Amino acid sequence: MDLIQSILARAKANRQRIVLPEGTEKRTLVAADRLLEDEVADILLIGNPSEIEKLSASYGLEHIGKATFIDPYDHPKKAAYADLLHQLRRKKGMTPEAAAILTENPLYLGCLMIKAGDADGEIAGALNTTGDVLRPALQIIKTAPGVNSVSGAYLMFTKAAQYGEHGLLVFADCAVIPNPTPAELAEIAVTTAHTTRAIAGFEPRVAMLSFSTKGSASHAMVDKVVEAVRIAKEMYPALQIDGELQTDAALVAEIASRKAPGSPVAGQANVLVFPSLEVGNIAYKLVERLGGAEAVGPILQGMAAPVNDLSRGCSSDDIYKMVAVSANQAIGLKSGGKQ
Ligand code: ACO
Repeated sequence: MDLIQSILARAKANRQRIVLPEGTEKRTLVAADRLLEDEVADILLIGNPSEIEKLSASYGLEHIGKATFIDPYDHPKKAAYADLLHQLRRKKGMTPEAAAILTENPLYLGCLMIKAGDADGEIAGALNTTGDVLRPALQIIKTAPGVNSVSGAYLMFTKAAQYGEHGLLVFADCAVIPNPTPAELAEIAVTTAHTTRAIAGFEPRVAMLSFSTKGSASHAMVDKVVEAVRIAKEMYPALQIDGELQTDAALVAEIASRKAPGSPVAGQANVLVFPSLEVGNIAYKLVERLGGAEAVGPILQGMAAPVNDLSRGCSSDDIYKMVAVSANQAIGLKSGGKQ
């Protein structure tokens, strides 16, 4: 069974309640219909119920009736969620009136449903920007205990079977923290290692990437990566991590033996941590578009409950898979695991 099949099987065996705030968006509805037909998750669709029904009929979807519809302007828990949001954000100056208005915003509503225990995870971003999806999640759901920074990883199913785990590598951070501090970069490495184990299902060997290998160049940007490796080793002594490494030294054994002899990771890395969001986001899209890799993600890691963001260029198949990934994260978190 391939990895996506086993992620789907885990989701089906322990159905989670996944909220889709963009409930009238076509790719979202098509994915929801397939998820309901395949019984991958219980689906909560935010949007005007009669509009959802009309659109579903026009797209020929037959299973949407099994979803729960939540009209953001009219549902029994509207006042309770507005009160919850006010309680959570009043120290930040949010008034009850502002909370009531924000509760009608599907992206806030989805997070409030999770916070109140009425849903287990959320996927959005087919229509909304990453910032708009993440902000309510960071404000309402917040980070898991012991985690300070949320970041985003991709499962990269490449065609280069000689690298990573038969071509599968995990890339991070490709989605959230524009210019991480050394401490944030260390936390990205550690949370990506947890994601790798929990979702990709293999033991992480983490390469902290740079334009330098083991002191071949000196620059403040290199120092940042070296410091991040030191902090990550302190945070998680058993983690197989090394850096700073250039990408060829991280991936190619023969180059690693010359540039980083004795490294526990160089030449066999299966997790690549990028020094900034610029590099991570550009790199994953290059590998996807020019290298023909399949990119699954971003899988947001470090959050107290799974909220995952989509690229606005996503397909309904991407949404289908990300719902299953989110369900796996929810199952892992409920069983006391880390993500
Ligand atoms: N981890 C944990 N908490 C965070 C993080 C983080 N990485 N970033 C912000 N927060 C918290 C803040 O502490 C704050 O909490 P508080 O209000 O309770 O004090 C709250 O989130 C809001 O923080 P702000 O700094 O006001 O939020 P900001 O407007 O800067 O938004 C965001 C944060 C949305 C993550 C921003 O950093 C961002 O836009 N990042 C880039 C996202 C992006 O565009 N990615 C590329 C595209 S993704 C793709 O291609 C698939």
